[in-house]
Amino acid sequence: LTITPFIANLPKVELHIHIEGTLTPALRWELAHRNAIPLPYPTFEDLQASYAVTLNHRPELNGRQPGIPTFLEAYFAGCEVLRTEADFYDLAMAYFHRCVDLKVRYTEPFFDIQAHTRRGVPAQAVLNGYLRAQQDAIALGVHSRWIFCFLRDEPVSAGLDAYRTARPWATVEGGKGLFHAVGLASNAYERPPMLFEEGFRLARADGLHVTMHCDFGQKDTQAHVAEAIYKVCGGLGAERIDHGLDAEEELWAGLVERGIGLTLCPHAYHRRTATEVLFPKIRRLWERGVQMCFNSDDPTLMHDVWIDGNMQKVYSYCGFSRGEMVQFVRNAVDMSWAEEDVKKAIY
Ligand code: HPA
Ligand code: ZN
Repeated sequence: LTITPFIANLPKVELHIHIEGTLTPALRWELAHRNAIPLPYPTFEDLQASYAVTLNHRPELNGRQPGIPTFLEAYFAGCEVLRTEADFYDLAMAYFHRCVDLKVRYTEPFFDIQAHTRRGVPAQAVLNGYLRAQQDAIALGVHSRWIFCFLRDEPVSAGLDAYRTARPWATVEGGKGLFHAVGLASNAYERPPMLFEEGFRLARADGLHVTMHCDFGQKDTQAHVAEAIYKVCGGLGAERIDHGLDAEEELWAGLVERGIGLTLCPHAYHRRTATEVLFPKIRRLWERGVQMCFNSDDPTLMHDVWIDGNMQKVYSYCGFSRGEMVQFVRNAVDMSWAEEDVKKAIY
């Protein structure tokens, strides 16, 4: 996939990227050595080669597939090397430097604090590392507000505890301003959005925004999308849906009426969907008036395809014009929860 100069030079906004999914093999190798953590790969080349395979998300196996690691197993295995505040800072700064190269001006990264605290990492190390990076990235011309994710395959009470711990780092009165929204990530298998209603309610009461993953091609995705549109947040619905691409036609009107945009990650779907099926589907949703923007999800675990590659794919395969591609960036600005001055600066 060749990135054309038009796509490369387009200023960008990213609304669906997991910070832990930006950990490169190189930084993972470096942190493993820094923290004296053994990796199951004898050489850097072996580690790098492990990223070349397609890691399918197999929720029906609940993350346990003999042999090949599933996508989420690989994702959480990568997290193992992250231990100290400096590690989280370095991870985020590496991403922000990548944003400079990609011309990403504003981003709303997801973070999975429970992926770290459940391994015994102090919440403060995670939050302060990300906060310091958020502040230092402004000098690079990259603004961000982050999204706290509940790990939906963990007990709800664990998510609520994590939220309460992280709350002083939110955009609440007297808070530090790291994150301004909550989301729902990890394995969706038999974990519908409504299970986390109390978490969404807490976040809304704090003035935060609410989004949630309704993964592509997973069991019960239709029901999850329907809950996200009509049931969560006391019936108000989510403000955005992450993925949600295979919402069936009867749900499209709900997305349009309620102004719920989809943060799509075309390459993630393209790994397991034929070109002639996937891209016409994206185009059809767009023609029906569903708001959408294009993002990278977990770029280092998805063949190193970043937001530019994702935008290039829809530009090449959906037949969108240059004007339409510019409009998608404006859509991302509209779908974002950036402060007005930041929005103006990007527009
Ligand atoms: N799906 C669900 N949760 C995730 C993913 C994903 O692809 N990546 C990181 N958290
Ligand atoms: Zn995602």
